[in-house]
Amino acid sequence: MTKITLSGVNKSFGANFPVIRGVDLTIDDGEFCVFLGPSGCGKSTLLRMVAGLETAYTGQIQIGDRVVDKVEPADREVAMVFQNYALYPHMTVYDNMAFGLRQAKTAKDEIERRVKEAARILQIEPLLDRMPKALSGGQRQRVAIGRAIVRQPKVFLFDEPLSNLDAALRVHMRSEIATLHRNFPAASMIYVTHDQTEAMALADKIVLLHAGKDMLKHGSIAQVGKPLDLYHRPRNLFVAGFLGSPTMNFLEASFVAQEPAGARVVLKGGEEIVVPVDGSALASGAPVTLGVRPEHLAPVAAPGAQTLTRKVSAVEHFGEYSFVYLDGGTPAPLIAKVPGDGGVKAGDSATYQAPADCCHLFDADGLALNHI
Ligand SMILES: Nc1ncnc2c1ncn2[C@@H]1O[C@H](COP(=O)(O)OP(=O)(O)OP(=O)(O)O)[C@@H](O)[C@H]1O
Ligand SMILES: [Mg+2]
Repeated sequence: MTKITLSGVNKSFGANFPVIRGVDLTIDDGEFCVFLGPSGCGKSTLLRMVAGLETAYTGQIQIGDRVVDKVEPADREVAMVFQNYALYPHMTVYDNMAFGLRQAKTAKDEIERRVKEAARILQIEPLLDRMPKALSGGQRQRVAIGRAIVRQPKVFLFDEPLSNLDAALRVHMRSEIATLHRNFPAASMIYVTHDQTEAMALADKIVLLHAGKDMLKHGSIAQVGKPLDLYHRPRNLFVAGFLGSPTMNFLEASFVAQEPAGARVVLKGGEEIVVPVDGSALASGAPVTLGVRPEHLAPVAAPGAQTLTRKVSAVEHFGEYSFVYLDGGTPAPLIAKVPGDGGVKAGDSATYQAPADCCHLFDADGLALNHI
């Protein structure tokens, strides 16, 4: 049993600085859970609380059947991999990996068996006699992961393990971490990152933490769910704006009326759009925000489709696709991500279709209205 449960967890640094607010969360047996959010939202703090490295919090943390709030880090059966690898510079790769087991008085041949097995899994067998300074960043990261594997933990905790690597190596190591998860199906994993691509690629479950101007929400959970649930059905403006690149377009609008097909809204530009959501709780004229992702704005409008027509302010070409910047977003320009060169240039008027199911509507509190 490696299910992890956090119940009503709060933590402050000092009396007036809450960093984690009211976190209720279950990470299932063998699940790959990613803590995601902007810098400073409390991801590392929450992870370190599971590891036992941060104490003085309220609420309860359970690993398996055991409440671990008073259990020392070494006795929690968790292993943590840090961003900066934290290898011992004066020890060989073998000794770095064996160190924790020697401390735990594991038998010598058992240590050798486990180190060699981890080295095999991570393909670092030829490096066992090297010192850390003679390794590349990716190899050091593998050693750091190897050091976690040999401990045969029930829970792997990763804090931004790939952020010191270059872009190509990050993608490579990301797939190795996914493989590692397949090799240890019984172990639960919590992986901290601020990189949404990494989160989308790896996670069974994403926990997105709030940060930003609204200090009352800072460090609370904005949404928990499968990656594509967060992408397709963000529960609020924060989640909608955080996931996706470029970020979701937001347009100010007013609610007109609820119709069988959805909520009719009128945009600042005068266009009316029906979004298939339940807006029946809204008063006529209530301010709302329409959200639509750049990749969902399609250049070819089918007959009868709901369209947006705007002036093109700039176009960026990337070969496979282009970003077309359009006047009239709030506060940033609208962006359409379109195939090829987009077929338009600055100064043109361009019309895009927004498929109804890919439109989102948020009320004045920033909460998404439910799709119908
Ligand atoms: N020991 C500490 N004392 C006081 N404040 C702290 C301490 N550790 C972290 N903080 C603050 O708590 C908040 C959350 O920090 P944390 O390191 O958990 O963020 P994070 O989401 O991991 O950010 P990053 O992506 O930059 O690593 C930050 O505002 C940070 O400055
Ligand atoms: Mg951090």
